[in-house]
Amino acid sequence: MSARSTVAVASAAAPEAASSGRDNGGPVGTATNSERLAPASTGAVHRLGPLDEIPVGEARTYAVGDAQIAVFRLRGDVLRAIDAVCPHAGGPLADGQADAEVVICPLHSHVFNLATGESSSGAPPIGCHPVRLAADGRIELTL
Ligand code: FES
Repeated sequence: MSARSTVAVASAAAPEAASSGRDNGGPVGTATNSERLAPASTGAVHRLGPLDEIPVGEARTYAVGDAQIAVFRLRGDVLRAIDAVCPHAGGPLADGQADAEVVICPLHSHVFNLATGESSSGAPPIGCHPVRLAADGRIELTL
């Protein structure tokens, strides 16, 4: 997988907009799956941009407040959101090679689980964040 390193700026969603997205049972049920796998969060919902901005199998980095978040679009429109900066030495994780479960940092090849943030190669863990596809086709991240 190759990914663009472009950073887009996210905007916080109005509460009514955030609640209008798909919930359980929508056509993109995998978004619900990613919410289940990501840690619980009571943070704000940020509308990142249209799903179509991310080709299947690639990732994009978004600036969300002070955070840099990499959103991966996997097959079946499964979404994963992780901290975009590798804790080892700052590598751009959105540019790493990824499959359905892990991403490999492009700088020194540490491996991170996209659902848990755990590293199987000895690096410190990264943050994983709830992400879903809203009914209007935009990506919503809770942070
Ligand atoms: S910066 Fe990611 S493995 Fe070194």
